[in-house]
Amino acid sequence: MSAIVISGASRGLGAALAQGWAGPGVTLHLIGRDAPALEGVAGACRALGATVRTALLDVRDAPALAAQLLAWDDAAPTTLVVANAGVTGGTRPDGGMEGQDSVQRVLGVNLLGAVNLVEPLLPRLVARGAGRVVLICSVAGFRGLPDSPAYSASKAGLWAYGEALRALLALRGVGVTNVAPGFFRSEMGARFLGKHPFEVSVERAAGHVMRAVARGAGRCVFPWGFGLMLRLLELLPAPLADKLTRLFRFRVDS
Ligand SMILES: NC(=O)c1ccc[n+]([C@@H]2O[C@H](COP(=O)([O-])OP(=O)(O)OC[C@H]3O[C@@H](n4cnc5c(N)ncnc54)[C@H](OP(=O)(O)O)[C@@H]3O)[C@@H](O)[C@H]2O)c1
Repeated sequence: MSAIVISGASRGLGAALAQGWAGPGVTLHLIGRDAPALEGVAGACRALGATVRTALLDVRDAPALAAQLLAWDDAAPTTLVVANAGVTGGTRPDGGMEGQDSVQRVLGVNLLGAVNLVEPLLPRLVARGAGRVVLICSVAGFRGLPDSPAYSASKAGLWAYGEALRALLALRGVGVTNVAPGFFRSEMGARFLGKHPFEVSVERAAGHVMRAVARGAGRCVFPWGFGLMLRLLELLPAPLADKLTRLFRFRVDS
């Protein structure tokens, strides 16, 4: 029996993971804000045999999220929690900066929202000595991208949080999988203007995540060559690294 919490389950990667894991004996606890879309995913998962509960919640609302997570955990002890909800922002095509509101939103959802999802459950996972935390980061966190500084910062922060948690929890029976995808096709993917090198389908992206979870992997980076390339930029002298990074004009339509 497994009980899986997924944020951002109304579409994209979260919806693909929910449907990928759905089946008899599986309880899915799905979070999003778009009611019809979330119910559509829930219905598809129920048709596959899963027990599904949904909550319309903003992951930035920490108290409401914690209350819901603990109530769900009382009903079915959580075995897997996937912090997937995410938003983009970025510099504007007219040369404008991101702006304080956009930066707050991106850091609030991608970094603090993920922490809000994980922290309430950690004491229970540790007490049970079982369970896994999955954090959906991005290769954009491996090297700050000039078109989306806040997004890069949010994902770099989330990656660091996950690396620290994994080392902390490994001896206490709780696993952590840090996931850093490159481009995959979704509503968010469509907002990345410009080239999408090595882009994969959302189903393929979900397959990478599910296999990593199944083998208890600590990290999942795909395509790994793209992740490695961005990581290596960090080792170059700053002027050269910046020049090469500017070649990636991944503009974001925020
Ligand atoms: N697509 C890519 O190329 C790519 C690459 C690397 C990493 N990623 C990461 O992968 C994850 C999934 O991305 P995706 O492409 O599937 O995105 P997407 O299609 O835009 O879906 C984003 C999901 O997050 C939810 N969400 C957004 N803000 C929320 C909030 N404040 N509270 C609760 N839920 C919220 C949305 O649900 P509602 O609208 O219903 O709230 C939606 O279900 C994100 O963390 C993203 O940063 C994506």
